[in-house]
Amino acid sequence: MHELLLRLDGVTAGYAQDIDVLREISLEVRAGEVSGLIGLNGAGKSTVIKTICGFLAPKAGRIELDGESIAGMPPHHLIDRDVCCIPQESSLFPYLTVEENLLLPLQGRKKLREVAAERYEEVLGIFPALEEKRRAQAGDLSGGQQKQLEFAKAWLQRPRLCLIDEPSIGLSPVLAEEVFGWIEKFAQSGMGVLLIDHNVRRVVRMSDRIHVLSLGRITASGGRKDFEGDLHEQVRQWLGLDF
Ligand SMILES: Nc1ncnc2c1ncn2[C@@H]1O[C@H](COP(=O)(O)OP(=O)(O)OP(=O)(O)O)[C@@H](O)[C@H]1O
Ligand SMILES: [Mg+2]
Repeated sequence: MHELLLRLDGVTAGYAQDIDVLREISLEVRAGEVSGLIGLNGAGKSTVIKTICGFLAPKAGRIELDGESIAGMPPHHLIDRDVCCIPQESSLFPYLTVEENLLLPLQGRKKLREVAAERYEEVLGIFPALEEKRRAQAGDLSGGQQKQLEFAKAWLQRPRLCLIDEPSIGLSPVLAEEVFGWIEKFAQSGMGVLLIDHNVRRVVRMSDRIHVLSLGRITASGGRKDFEGDLHEQVRQWLGLDF
C-alpha cells in the first residue's frame, strides 16, 4: 500500500461556534493516489479543504500530515510542508502577470528557487497558452487559461499533496477532460491528491478511494470497485437515478 500522507480522524469543524458543518470526518490520502470526495452542493466539501489548510480550526478530531498534527497550521506553513491547494475560487492575483503568479510561491523558498528555472521552462512547454501570455495580467486570461495557470503553478511547486476543489467548473468538456488528465499525471508522479468535483462519474473513474459526504458526514467510503459500474446506492440516490 502507498505511503500515507494525510489522515483526518473524527474531524468536527464549522464557521460558527455553535454550528458544526463537518461532523466526525475521517478520510485519508496516500502518495500516488487520488482520493475523491463527492457530495451535493452545500454538503461541506470545500469546508473539508479549508479545514485541512488551516482556515478553520477543528473543534474535535485529528488532522495529520506524515503522522504529525497540522490542525490549525496556517496555510503558508503548509507550502513549506509540500502541500498545495487549488481552491474552488481562484487563488490567482489578477493584477500580477502570468509569470509573477507562477513564481510567487517560490519567493523566499530556497529549496524551490534552486529548481525554479528548469521547472518554469518545463511548465511553459506543458501549457503553451501560458507561454504566449506570460506578460499578460492573470485577470485578463479566459477562465480556461486561468485554470491552466492554477495547475501550472501547482506543478511548478511539485507538492507531495495537492488539494483540488471543483477543477472542472465552468470549463468546456474538452478542457475539463484535459484538467482531469493533468490530475492523473500529478498522481502518476507520486503526488497524493484529494479531489472534489461535481462530475461524479469522472471522479469515481480516476480515484483510488472515494468518500461520500452528506450533510457534513462521511456516509460512504470505499475503493473504486465499490463505486464503479452500478454506482454505489448512496451515489445513485443523490444523483437522482432512483427517482
Ligand atoms: N465562510 C462561511 N461562513 C459561514 N458558513 C459557510 C461559509 N462557507 C460555507 N459555509 C456553509 O457551510 C456549508 C458547507 O459549505 P461548503 O462550501 O463546504 O459546501 P460544498 O460541499 O463545497 O458545496 P458546493 O458543491 O456548492 O461547492 C454550507 O451550508 C455553507 O453555507
Ligand atoms: Mg465547494
